[in-house]
Amino acid sequence: MNPHELDSTARALVAPGKGILAADESAGTIKKRFDGIKLEATEENGRRYREMLFTTAGAAEHVSGVILFDATIRQSTKGGQRFTDLLASQGIIPGIKVDAGTMPLPGHPGELISAGADGLRKRLAEYYAMGARFAKWRAVIDIAPGIPSALCLSANAEALAHYAACCQAENIVPIVEPEVLMDGDHGIARCEDVTTETLHQVFAALYRYGVRLEGMLLKPNMVIAGAKCATQDSADAIAEATLRCFKRTVPAAVPGIVFLSGGQSEVQATANLDAIVRRGPHPWTFSFSYGRALQAGSIKAWAGLDENVAKGQAVYLHRARMNGLAAKGAWTQAAEG
Ligand code: 13P
Repeated sequence: MNPHELDSTARALVAPGKGILAADESAGTIKKRFDGIKLEATEENGRRYREMLFTTAGAAEHVSGVILFDATIRQSTKGGQRFTDLLASQGIIPGIKVDAGTMPLPGHPGELISAGADGLRKRLAEYYAMGARFAKWRAVIDIAPGIPSALCLSANAEALAHYAACCQAENIVPIVEPEVLMDGDHGIARCEDVTTETLHQVFAALYRYGVRLEGMLLKPNMVIAGAKCATQDSADAIAEATLRCFKRTVPAAVPGIVFLSGGQSEVQATANLDAIVRRGPHPWTFSFSYGRALQAGSIKAWAGLDENVAKGQAVYLHRARMNGLAAKGAWTQAAEG
């Protein structure tokens, strides 16, 4: 482990006004996205879509890193430039999703545990050689009556900590992602309780595994009511609950907290990040690691057609710029145009 390399990569990923594009959709997830534009989810269409995003001029002003999927990190532009080289040439750090998706948690109906520990060290070394300097592992915590169970939280925390320790041993910055889903009809207080317990367990496990906090990033959900809850809170209320939760659970040695968007609309994800940053100064740098909230409009504008590449790129660049402003607490509704 090279602590200097890890710490400087982690800090570069949360450079002022910059965040991460999560473009690491698995084959199954990209099929869902392409179904929305009636595009066949072939490997070549996946490659064309990522080429559209990654060749967007000016994105590097707001995007510090891009998370790739295993198939994508091996791909190149039509002209033959490897995606990792294309990104690095713009000063964007390539990253890699290394969990292998979720499996049912035995004996706990409705709960999941993330897979991917098999061969992890070897895969990380290969990804480093391909140019990846950070990784992501997503754990999924659902909220429902009687859920999450104590086992779901402890087992997922353990898996995240083992992954993070393996990453650091290979000089790859781990993004630790315990996602408390916003799918249910629960209110914001229940999300706060579950997120608080989740983060307590995650940081206890990271400590047990000797993970270097300065050389990692946390990728959490915001503390927010379930999408089906009748009461939806203001950005200010979300910011207040989110910050209270993190102050109680996340050590100040962690350099950055980069949110997932989790099903929030594009503008909502930006407005909420902005509200959180504005309440600073904070011990951590806040930014984004958005998938859908950076891509939803862009993929529609592109619609799978070569003649729409510039349109898709303009929408992506706009969202990246808006989130870059939010990461500085400088976003306004007027800036949306
Ligand atoms: P969303 O922003 O669409 O939630 O995706 C982020 C991510 O990487 C989930 O693992």
